[in-house]
Amino acid sequence: MRSLAWLFMLAGIAATKSLVSQQPLAAPPRPNVIFILTDDQDAHLNSLDYMPHVKKHLLNKGTHYRSHYCTTSVCCPSRVTLWTGKLAHNTNVTDVNPPYGGPKQRISQVHITRVQRELPSCVAAGSAVNTYYTGKLFNVHTVDNYNAPFPAGFTGHDFLLDPFAYDYLNSTFQRDREPPRSYEGEYSTDVLAQKAYRLLDEAVAAQKPFFLTVAPIAPHCNVFMNGTGLDDNPVFSFSAPIPAKRHEHLFPDIQVPRTPSFNPEYPSGANWIKTLKRQNNTNVEYNDQFYRTRLRALQAVDELVDGIFTRLHQYNLLENTYIVYSSDNGYHIGQHRLQPGKSCGYEEDINVPLIVGGPGIAENASTDIVTTHTDLAPTFLQLLDIPLRDDFDGDPIPLTPGQIEAAQDERQEHVTVEYWGFAAGEGIYDFDLSAYNNTYKALRIKGKGYNLYYSVWCNNEHELYDMTSDPHQLHNLLSTDTTDIEPTPHIILNNPLSKVVPRIDSLLFVLKSCKGQVCIKPWRALHPGGDVTTLKDALHARYDNFYEVEQTTQVRFEECARGYLLKAEGPQFDVHDENGGNGFVRDGLAWDTWV
Ligand SMILES: *[C@@H]1O[C@H](CO)[C@@H](O)[C@H](O)[C@H]1NC(C)=O
Ligand SMILES: *[C@@H]1O[C@H](CO)[C@@H](O)[C@H](O)[C@H]1NC(C)=O
Ligand SMILES: *[C@@H]1O[C@H](CO)[C@@H](O)[C@H](O)[C@H]1NC(C)=O
Ligand SMILES: *[C@@H]1O[C@H](CO)[C@@H](O)[C@H](O)[C@H]1NC(C)=O
Ligand SMILES: *[C@@H]1O[C@H](CO)[C@@H](O)[C@H](O)[C@H]1NC(C)=O
Ligand SMILES: *[C@@H]1O[C@H](CO)[C@@H](O)[C@H](O)[C@H]1NC(C)=O
Repeated sequence: MRSLAWLFMLAGIAATKSLVSQQPLAAPPRPNVIFILTDDQDAHLNSLDYMPHVKKHLLNKGTHYRSHYCTTSVCCPSRVTLWTGKLAHNTNVTDVNPPYGGPKQRISQVHITRVQRELPSCVAAGSAVNTYYTGKLFNVHTVDNYNAPFPAGFTGHDFLLDPFAYDYLNSTFQRDREPPRSYEGEYSTDVLAQKAYRLLDEAVAAQKPFFLTVAPIAPHCNVFMNGTGLDDNPVFSFSAPIPAKRHEHLFPDIQVPRTPSFNPEYPSGANWIKTLKRQNNTNVEYNDQFYRTRLRALQAVDELVDGIFTRLHQYNLLENTYIVYSSDNGYHIGQHRLQPGKSCGYEEDINVPLIVGGPGIAENASTDIVTTHTDLAPTFLQLLDIPLRDDFDGDPIPLTPGQIEAAQDERQEHVTVEYWGFAAGEGIYDFDLSAYNNTYKALRIKGKGYNLYYSVWCNNEHELYDMTSDPHQLHNLLSTDTTDIEPTPHIILNNPLSKVVPRIDSLLFVLKSCKGQVCIKPWRALHPGGDVTTLKDALHARYDNFYEVEQTTQVRFEECARGYLLKAEGPQFDVHDENGGNGFVRDGLAWDTWV
């Protein structure tokens, strides 16, 4: 029995107290957790519709978090965030490659050391839970550096290693303290499935609660790497993902969904995205083919999910095991004329699948409460009955129907979105060098009566999309291009943009350097009295002066940097200001001094 059922049972016991009060209560056994983490799986290109086993075991039997977001849309920073419960600006792992992924030569160890300090070691520390991992951990975790040091904190592991991690037909895995082993000619996800089943068998045999992560590379593109990625000039060659032979023929006519933002007639977005040219038919056909190979590559993952559930059923563990399914970041193909890839702040890239199944979780349910990858580590720890760290930038995800119901009114409505560095196109067409300046801060905010995306780019262009009327993010309300200006003023919650923008900018100003609770309850940093907890509250006329006159500092960049360099980041909000003022600090000077 898991802790939540335990609570229900306690409630039941209270109701029939006289019958059971004489019996001592045994401590409830901890549940198990299995985390399936795919790579680059979208929530907006309908990939889940093509995964019948995920539907049968997870969507039909669990709860789908439709408003789940990653906070940095690229794998390594996102995975470090996910494992540490900290935003990328607090881990400073902001890139997949050196130098901003970590010091050169040591990048992977830096990631691993950071993560070791956090989740797996906490889990292992109590030694009440066994931890297992198979699949991709991080980039630049290679055949050369895998043992220097070995990632600690795992009872058993079998990692995919670079330069073969994204090589669907020539994977290399490295188990426990053994040397790396090549699986040339075998299909990566099938090799991984066998490893996942073996670890599950081991976990069950150990007769201890376990936490097992299974991290396939699908549907990431296939990557050929000449060298390990630690070389001075690593050569990467990207191609469409490779499905298993048995799935090659599937979905012959399927195309990328032709939503209004798909290869639109007019440019959209900001900065380099706005300069992209419309894709011709050859390019679109290639991208459709790329899309089909993603769906095909996901079929082996779907079978792996079925295999895990079959075994959980055989072991009679379904009643005591949570299964969490997600992806490190989302994906776009053709939206805003973009070539296949991630790294943008648009909905396709940041909104990712999250499905949770297990005891006490509502079946065939979905929710729109806002959750993010910073919430996953706290959620895992809570499920495993391990005390939460007090420096998480997220908080546990509401899981039971009761918790979800309560969260409708209480939970935060924002997502902090941040990115530094370049955006890679993963198809064969048009690699755009200007995509190197893909540094931005953004805010996704979804509340009662509003649904917005606000961004500030490193060249200080701004975007605001009202996703109630413009779900595909095609009309930038803050475009400085005169042809984009709407004939009638835009109204959000009965307020003109001149009232809305200062509020959301101040919120982003707090979030872009927040730590811990401030990231979870950012309005409190602006209104320490606690009288404002939503954008709607902040829009009250009594705060007009505060936002429109007193807050003279806006989010802006000094330059486009490829990493988190404070000199490029513009004014900073420091909530830990000891001067007792409202906490604004610029260049190390208290706000009062600066103005
Ligand atoms: C497959 O990987 C092994 C190392 O794990 C390597 O020696 C071999 O050359 C690779 N084969 C191909 C075809 O890339
Ligand atoms: C791979 O690297 C080797 C040695 O640096 C070089 O000789 C070879 O041409 C490279 N191959 C490709 C496909 O880049
Ligand atoms: C289509 O666009 C691609 C990418 O810009 C270009 O390389 C190709 O030459 C174009 N093909 C035709 C037939 O215009
Ligand atoms: C799941 O819910 C939907 C409606 O919300 C319903 O149409 C469908 O039949 C349900 N499926 C199952 C397996 O219960
Ligand atoms: C990127 O930004 C830098 C500094 O902000 C600027 O000097 C450079 O020209 C930009 N590069 C491109 C390709 O736009
Ligand atoms: C983040 O790391 C980079 C690279 O090591 C470093 O230059 C930068 O100062 C760090 N940023 C912060 C805010 O510590």
